[in-house]
Amino acid sequence: MKKLLLQFLVLAVILTQAAFANGQTDESGSGSTKVIKISTKFVDDEQTAISLKKVVKEVNEKSGGSLELQLFASGVLPIGKDGMEQIVAGSDWILVDGVNFLGDYVPDYNAITGPFLYSSFDEYFGMTQTDLVKEMNQKIEAESGIKVLSLDWVFGFRSMMTNKPIKTPGDMEGLNIRVPTSQLYTFTLEAMGGNPVAMPYPDTYAAIQQGVIDGVEGSIMTYYGTQQYENVKEYSLTNHLLGVSAVSISTKLWDKLTEEERTILVDAFEMGREDNLKETLKAEGEFVDLLKAEGVNFNEVDSDAFLKAAAPVYTRFPQWTPGIYNRILAELKTIKAAQ
Ligand code: G3P
Repeated sequence: MKKLLLQFLVLAVILTQAAFANGQTDESGSGSTKVIKISTKFVDDEQTAISLKKVVKEVNEKSGGSLELQLFASGVLPIGKDGMEQIVAGSDWILVDGVNFLGDYVPDYNAITGPFLYSSFDEYFGMTQTDLVKEMNQKIEAESGIKVLSLDWVFGFRSMMTNKPIKTPGDMEGLNIRVPTSQLYTFTLEAMGGNPVAMPYPDTYAAIQQGVIDGVEGSIMTYYGTQQYENVKEYSLTNHLLGVSAVSISTKLWDKLTEEERTILVDAFEMGREDNLKETLKAEGEFVDLLKAEGVNFNEVDSDAFLKAAAPVYTRFPQWTPGIYNRILAELKTIKAAQ
């Protein structure tokens, strides 16, 4: 009897996994609803997740039942490298996570999001419109089956959240700082003087409390949205990297969609991107005041010293296209001149 029950359970798991892999569950019974899971690290209260909820609503309404997006926030489904692997495997899946995870397939994505490149969101948006970046999007689509729907879901420049005020790279010595699982982040934090510890963001709250890490680096949106101010009270304004998410979908899934469904998806994610940007710009200032009310201190840093310390990061990627850094600087010059 026990054996029979076990066999039944195994079969149930296999059938569930098969449905998950196909992503073609049909809750309406009509057989025509394409269910797509959106996986993201952002928690429900963070602006990116709030804007994604609007995307879900829009797509589900506009498609009249042919598409059903389901949002899974807080990293409850695979995120980061694991999330991207789902896309490459062809799952019915959209990942909203760091541009650096595209860099695992086309390393040049890390070059366009390197340390201290941009001084405004607009400069970065200018970069994502260049032929240089459009070529990367074509390459990753053709070679890895990843279709990039957007590179522009920003959530602020990233700085240091610790319990020790940081002014210079010397102040970072001995500090274990969590970074996303990415060479770009590891090399950057190392160059800035800290000990990078890679782990998924959802694990960081407990990791600080357990003393595994001394802090994290991230934006004001992250700081307030994930309530990390309860653990660490010093925010040191290194602004070393731009917090920005890519929206990626599998080409295998894309090929299964009708023209109309593709348009609905693209338009909804564009609406979401605009909403995320507008609300982020508004919230950044408000969150500074709210964080101060929670006892957070904001510290200016020696920006020149950090800029100098991080410069060697650009020489640590033999896998980048030769000359890419100079091409990026030239594009940036044109972008700045036009703004
Ligand atoms: O909720 C996490 C998000 O705000 C930042 O994640 O991995 O880019 O540091 P990450």
